[in-house]
Amino acid sequence: MSTLHARSPQESITILTELVLPAQANLLGNLLGGQLMHFMDIAGALTCRRHSGYEVATVAVDKLEFKHPIKVGEVITITSKLIWVGNTSMKVKIDVSAEDTKVHVCKLTNTAYMTFVALDSNCKPVKVPPLAPQTDEEKALFEREQKRYLEFKKSRK
Ligand SMILES: CC(C)(COP(=O)(O)OP(=O)(O)OC[C@H]1O[C@@H](n2cnc3c(N)ncnc32)[C@H](O)[C@@H]1OP(=O)(O)O)[C@@H](O)C(=O)NCCC(=O)NCCS
Repeated sequence: MSTLHARSPQESITILTELVLPAQANLLGNLLGGQLMHFMDIAGALTCRRHSGYEVATVAVDKLEFKHPIKVGEVITITSKLIWVGNTSMKVKIDVSAEDTKVHVCKLTNTAYMTFVALDSNCKPVKVPPLAPQTDEEKALFEREQKRYLEFKKSRK
């Protein structure tokens, strides 16, 4: 029987704030997509490390959308929150917003879902604490992801 204690999504939320610098931009003065993905990967990994207490590896990125360009000089906030946990894998929703601090305008620019696997010191997948969704929204997301997980497992057989 597992002795791992369930943790709520709130306990591992991670918020990264970055100022977009010219070296991170393309020739149009917009943040490079790859650079943004790097920030999102770091935020997601931190959430999963906080939840599990292990090193983690990225195994999948779903539905990464770029809704608006992000300009040099804007401040981006990357929020990563766990929505589902399996045995060794964990899925986070990552939202990115960009703020033009001169005019106090902030918009949601990106969302993505990323899956990480907890690894032990031999780099083998290791069991993580269960997730205990608290709100109705968290419970609904968890259920949706549990169905996807079962489909994924079926397709892998
Ligand atoms: C992470 C890794 C060790 C897992 O190995 P594996 O042989 O797939 O292990 P398993 O089949 O036991 O899967 C482990 C978990 O990952 C999940 N998983 C594997 N591939 C997945 C995918 N494409 N999407 C979602 N989940 C996935 C499995 O469902 C399982 O979850 P569960 O334990 O909650 O049921 C291996 O895939 C790996 O090393 N990948 C490279 C990771 C990497 O280098 N990332 C970039 C840098 S961090």
